Amino acid sequence: MTRPLILLTGATGYIGSHTWLALLASGFDVVGVDNFSNSSRETLNRLHRLSGQTPDFVEADVCSAAAMDAVIRGRRVAAAVHFAAFKAVGESASQPLAYYANNVGGLLTLCQAMQANDCKTLVFSSSATVYGNPQQLPIREDAPLSTTNPYGASKLISENMLRDVEQADAAWAIALLRYFNPVGAHESGLIGEDPRGTPNNLMPYITQVAVGQRARLQVFGNDYDTPDGTGVRDYIHVLDLADGHVQALRYLLGQRRGITANLGTGVGYSVLEMVRAFEQASGHPVPFEIVARRPGDIGACYADPSRAREMLGWTAQRGLAAMCADSWRWQSQNPHGMAP
Ligand code: NAD
Ligand code: WQD
Repeated sequence: MTRPLILLTGATGYIGSHTWLALLASGFDVVGVDNFSNSSRETLNRLHRLSGQTPDFVEADVCSAAAMDAVIRGRRVAAAVHFAAFKAVGESASQPLAYYANNVGGLLTLCQAMQANDCKTLVFSSSATVYGNPQQLPIREDAPLSTTNPYGASKLISENMLRDVEQADAAWAIALLRYFNPVGAHESGLIGEDPRGTPNNLMPYITQVAVGQRARLQVFGNDYDTPDGTGVRDYIHVLDLADGHVQALRYLLGQRRGITANLGTGVGYSVLEMVRAFEQASGHPVPFEIVARRPGDIGACYADPSRAREMLGWTAQRGLAAMCADSWRWQSQNPHGMAP
């Protein structure tokens, strides 16, 4: 049986690299595209070691129409998974045009190249950020959508654009996957989240404190309406997230119909619960101090993951202990990230 070929954009990034391995293990072939704007070439060596095969990779910018056309035209691409985007919320507020150009412009260019080559199956990386400050928990996919920053707006604009594309041409089948808070790493410790500069997100900050690179975690507020007052999120292991993409592709290629689905566990943990779980998994202390709320933050956010279970046959399998143990293995084996 032939293995369907999947185009992964943003393929050497955090979620892309884990999804690449999951796809190879699940009977798909992969061609990866990245411009290394937020990842390292070393990822390809690690993928080679982990998969036992040379990664089929093209260094290219998804905003280049000629490059995207060339990648798709020369191959029998069955579907694309579009991870490539900028993702720093704070930076998006200071550089909105860069975010709209890369996130919306890149998606537009990719879709045009796909359409021109009659490849109309797409999985898009959306985010729980499109729910804004949720009024009801757990969050269902039909909850009201809103955004509070240009990054979130770029995801909502992208979702709207893709809904229009599907509406206009029934040959398109598109999955809008709304990720909650991805953490963890491959259990080998060879690939994981590799942020540049000071991490914006909680888990990489915690791991850098535990490994001794940073003195202490700042906990952004302990006066939220949550059990211990600190922010509550739905952390999901990146390997579960990767499996969610495999299931979404099977659904799209089998059913020829689109879907919007949350990818989360349905369980929320507070910042202090995360600190304690990580200390336990790593055996290292994580000193912290309580500081003011981070502007734009919300108190609690966790998914109702039942649609993904019912329609995709997918549920997250890995719990908090595995998320922390795998994040720690990656950080402790690679204290300076991917850089060789
Ligand atoms: P990441 O930064 O690790 O990966 C993105 C990859 O895309 C990087 O390797 C980067 O070099 C590449 N890239 C960016 N712009 C590009 C361009 N113009 N051309 C080619 N490559 C380009 O981020 P990630 O955490 O793996 O996120 C993947 C996707 O998931 C993004 O779309 C992100 O917005 C979305 N998402 C992430 C999270 C999260 O917390 N990590 C949550 C929800 C949604
Ligand atoms: C988690 C909790 C913080 C850092 C962001 C984006 C969202 C999505 C995922 C892409 C919150 C607290 C954090 C720290 C802390 N990305 N915290 N000290 O804010 O849920 O979501 O990343 O789509 O769009 O907004 O994740 O990891 O930044 O924060 O106390 O140094 O940890 O206040 O309660 P968030 P996060």
